[in-house]
Amino acid sequence: MAKIISANVYYVLIMITLGIESSCDETSVAILNGGSVLVSLTHSQEEHALYGGVVPEVASRAHLEKIDGLVKRALSECGLAPNDLELIAVTDSPGLAGALLVGISFALGLHTAYGIPVTGVNHLEGHICSLFIDRPNLTPPFIVLLASGGHTAIYNYQSYNNCKLLGQTVDDAAGEAFDKVGKLLGFTYPAGRAIEEEAAKAVNHDQHQDHKKITFPTAKFTSPEKSYCFSFSGLKTAVKNFISAQGEKYIDTNRPEICAAFQKNVVNTLVDNLEAAAKAHGVKTVAAAGGVACNGYLRRELEKRFGADNVMLPAPRLCTDNGAMIAMAGYMMHNSGRTRFPKMDPGRGI
Ligand SMILES: Nc1ncnc2c1ncn2[C@@H]1O[C@H](COP(=O)(O)OP(=O)(O)OP(=O)(O)O)[C@@H](O)[C@H]1O
Ligand SMILES: [Mg+2]
Repeated sequence: MAKIISANVYYVLIMITLGIESSCDETSVAILNGGSVLVSLTHSQEEHALYGGVVPEVASRAHLEKIDGLVKRALSECGLAPNDLELIAVTDSPGLAGALLVGISFALGLHTAYGIPVTGVNHLEGHICSLFIDRPNLTPPFIVLLASGGHTAIYNYQSYNNCKLLGQTVDDAAGEAFDKVGKLLGFTYPAGRAIEEEAAKAVNHDQHQDHKKITFPTAKFTSPEKSYCFSFSGLKTAVKNFISAQGEKYIDTNRPEICAAFQKNVVNTLVDNLEAAAKAHGVKTVAAAGGVACNGYLRRELEKRFGADNVMLPAPRLCTDNGAMIAMAGYMMHNSGRTRFPKMDPGRGI
């Protein structure tokens, strides 16, 4: 444990952090040494695929079954004992109440048994902090798009102590739109990756061709206070109506083109809003985080639009829910003496 004494300020620089994530359908734990991952283990609950979405009670029970074994395995893979942990960071919001309680109770149990300090972490701040993992040279300011299963928002990450929400979805999240459209097209939950793979089979997918003239409408906001907001529920309805109008036979032969047109619509909206926000705030560096940031088409479009050197993206394994991003957020909060960022998720709209 490194100790820093500067003038009359003394604090202990925490290095070994255990991160625990259990807000939805992934039980994930990770141990970080500073900003580097020593181990990261995730159990994804496949049982929800049966129901086409996450069932809260099933999620809580599955977290309970897995969490102890995952933490024990993580410690043993790093050759550490519980006493070696210097900080526990655990997701405390937003998420499913019962699922969050499993992670929080487990963290508090370790605190009681070993006296390790515990920091509650906002899940969305965790997604953004995934950008800092193994990237010690990333320095603010940057504008970040957070696009996940439950949230889609743009933040101005002005400094380590200041992250401001600029706009967010007023209805469905981008990942939710992928999952719902995926369900309409016969893919299992979560459907984001399957849609991307199917879209890649469409002819000239990357060349911005018109996908056999399939296009869907895009929601635009005219009021200035909603400049960086999103709406995906109309797009979902448009795909639903298109599918009903065309019939099963057409869908079976044109699934890749429908997926490509849908994906292109979502990605263009995300990238357009990010670009508008970056321009308006005079910020050159942009970033993306959250499960939708796994999407290869989005990643390529961002690099095309902003130039690869100006785009920061976490490795795909750090985009979907993981304990490493929670550990990173806790580690950064603790060592800067900062409490959580306010207003990360003040409800839909702005
Ligand atoms: N390749 C991909 N293309 C598009 N979407 C994807 C891809 N891979 C994953 N997703 C989507 O990412 C979402 C899961 O991301 P994540 O785990 O960050 O969300 P969540 O934790 O459920 O939501 P939140 O973080 O808002 O609480 C799902 O909606 C999934 O379909
Ligand atoms: Mg998430």
